[in-house]
Amino acid sequence: MAYPETFFVTGASGSQGRAVARKLLSAGHKPSSLAIQKLGATLIKGDYDDIAALEEAAEGCTGVFILSMGTQPASLEIEQAQNIIDASIAAGVKKAVCSTVTRAEEAEKFIGLVPGNPHFAAYWPTKKAVQDAVQTAGFETWTILQPAWLMTNWIAPVGPFFFSELKKDKLLDVALREDTIIYITAPDDMGSFALKAFEGGLSGEIIRVASDGLTIGECASVVSEVSGVKVGWRIKTEEEVEKQKDINPLVASQIWARDEGPKVDLEKVRGYGIPLTGFREFLESHKEGLLEAID
Ligand SMILES: NC(=O)c1ccc[n+]([C@@H]2O[C@H](COP(=O)([O-])OP(=O)(O)OC[C@H]3O[C@@H](n4cnc5c(N)ncnc54)[C@H](OP(=O)(O)O)[C@@H]3O)[C@@H](O)[C@H]2O)c1
Repeated sequence: MAYPETFFVTGASGSQGRAVARKLLSAGHKPSSLAIQKLGATLIKGDYDDIAALEEAAEGCTGVFILSMGTQPASLEIEQAQNIIDASIAAGVKKAVCSTVTRAEEAEKFIGLVPGNPHFAAYWPTKKAVQDAVQTAGFETWTILQPAWLMTNWIAPVGPFFFSELKKDKLLDVALREDTIIYITAPDDMGSFALKAFEGGLSGEIIRVASDGLTIGECASVVSEVSGVKVGWRIKTEEEVEKQKDINPLVASQIWARDEGPKVDLEKVRGYGIPLTGFREFLESHKEGLLEAID
């Protein structure tokens, strides 16, 4: 492989894209991205709807990291991913790595789980459509990386959205079971997997990427110990779940996590030989964001 290679990294101002771009940079490559220009990346200003900007960004790149982003309406997510794919193929990009969500290819199985929640109903089919588009686009190599819950869900700025009772009541209030294993993914580990894929491994693989797995009680303990703030946890009653499931996408996704789940085999993930980031380690290195989400 010729060094350095240039990669088109979408979503590089966000958690996963930034981690991918940083890993590529640290391996001596040249990500082409807006957010990390100061680290040595090339700055490209653009939008997933702006075909000309996407084509400019993809020009001269050997690989593309496609961060498929949730949108309203959901169909726009597929259109935007297709724009990135089309621009990359037109520019002769050979390798694609795409981030979707665990078990996207099994979307049909989940249709009946919370049929009254439009966000939930569209979520997995949309991610599946994006995966299908990447797999059939004509890239020389493709890899689908499927994160479970991102560890960034626990810290600012998005923490209060995922755990609305955390700041006010110091509580993780969830529609899970006490023994549900919550699989969580460190963005840095997505970056490491993407780097391995771009450097020639993992071609044609769909990989469920989780870095750690804990119950909600264990999560609360780690959050409390790292933050120094006592955080409790509570399982919603079935009546509460019934009332909220059609109007609250988070409750719907927790029903999915409780009844289906990402089915991650952590031993298999470890088998790739990529060092994984524990939940405690992640929170310790993002303590400021954790405290902002709690206090
Ligand atoms: N949270 C979870 O637990 C979880 C689990 C599995 C999968 N996912 C999926 O992961 C994705 C979110 O990943 P993330 O947390 O890394 O995202 P993030 O931190 O919110 O960052 C999103 C990135 O995408 C960019 N972006 C969004 N819309 C764009 C557009 N129209 N044109 C150009 N750039 C655009 C943003 O750019 P700006 O900064 O300019 O806005 C930002 O760089 C979602 O699709 C979600 O479904 C999330």
